[in-house]
Amino acid sequence: MIHFEAVYPDSAWPEYRTLADDAQQIKNLAFIAFKQVVEGTGKGSEWLGWRRILSYPNLEEVQEVKRRANWIREHSDTVVIAGIGGSYLGAKAILQALTNPFTKTNPEILFSGFHMGSKQTAQLLDYLKTPLNGQVRRVHVIVISKSGSTIETAISFRALRIVLKEMYGQGASEHITAITGPEGGKLNGMVEKEGYAKFIIPDDVGGRFSVLTPVGLLPLAVAGVEITTLLDGAVKAYSYYDNKPDTALEYASFRIACYKRGIALDIIGSFEPELNGFSSWIQQLMGESEGKDLKGIFPVGASYSTDLHSLGQIIQEGRRNLMETLLVLDKESANYTIPSDPEAGDDLEYLAGRTLFSVNQSALNGTVKAHSNGGVPVAMITLPELNESSLGAFIYFYELTTAIHCYLLDVNPFDQPGVEAYKLEMRTLLNDASYSS
Ligand code: PA5
Repeated sequence: MIHFEAVYPDSAWPEYRTLADDAQQIKNLAFIAFKQVVEGTGKGSEWLGWRRILSYPNLEEVQEVKRRANWIREHSDTVVIAGIGGSYLGAKAILQALTNPFTKTNPEILFSGFHMGSKQTAQLLDYLKTPLNGQVRRVHVIVISKSGSTIETAISFRALRIVLKEMYGQGASEHITAITGPEGGKLNGMVEKEGYAKFIIPDDVGGRFSVLTPVGLLPLAVAGVEITTLLDGAVKAYSYYDNKPDTALEYASFRIACYKRGIALDIIGSFEPELNGFSSWIQQLMGESEGKDLKGIFPVGASYSTDLHSLGQIIQEGRRNLMETLLVLDKESANYTIPSDPEAGDDLEYLAGRTLFSVNQSALNGTVKAHSNGGVPVAMITLPELNESSLGAFIYFYELTTAIHCYLLDVNPFDQPGVEAYKLEMRTLLNDASYSS
């Protein structure tokens, strides 16, 4: 399962001297918050579907997702996933963790619908229209939107749909799969009219908690990820943490103890580039869940070592209102030994014969020591290994901790009323008469 370790600033930082004791005391409250999650008695308990889907996994639906994914794999060169926020970040993070960034998956997976940049939109459409090996490229679009009306995704989908019609005429609908709420919304209307294949995002699962529904499972299965193992890892974690919630309680308590000391930012980083996608996924999960009623710790993604050479200075010596969460791998996922090259003149011969993983671990442990000595409390979250099963457990662990953390802050983890503010202003500027809420 997932391991948590807190590294506290030393006595040079009197303001953090009792942080460990505070966290220990908060753990009792965290247990009450955990009970609210498990018993469904907390705020927003109608949104606990992310637990329900693990308590009674819908294996028939998983088979259906796999069948559709196999069909898409057989019939596509390029698959575009159109979605934003919780409708794509989870799948993107898992793909980054499990696939080789230097080779394309087959079919290749591209993302759209998460911005309205005209240049990249035009570039994507041009790319899709470019023949492959002298043939019309076989493109499939998976459009994902629970509400079915998010403007960034909807505009991208409109553009993609028109390209598909230009390329395949009457057959364009076959090249589209929609994942949306059970009913209502513009996307469901199009599904009915055009006959697109469709998967459902259950009503009781919020967007950022939906990666283990078809939202994440279909794109991942198309890319060749073992979704049954992923789900199984999450199911096992669900049972495990319901009986032994300590790790989740300790992590949530640690963050609350930091928050109560005035910590405003949580830097979520990793020394393993394949885990960096999870910084964005966690950023949304935690930020959108806890940041309300003027509360919450602002989550900031970071990628190490590179950001040690950009943010390292301010982390080490800037304003002391930071904590850090480091995502760590217990085992190397590939072996690379630093070769010997005595004539090179790079003064690196002392490292010859060591694995790059062990050198990276020294960078990690050195950073933890430097940052904690510099007055930054550090949470280390360790995954036993990098595979589908441990990622499933990791996802559930984060969902659970987030819910506990929010209940400790007395906020509803599952809504996002503040996101509407920008939408309202934008739609007003766009003269969209149909928009309300
Ligand atoms: O967590 C959430 O519900 C949101 O962040 C959504 O995932 C995001 O806004 C996308 O919404 P939709 O899937 O309705 O297009």
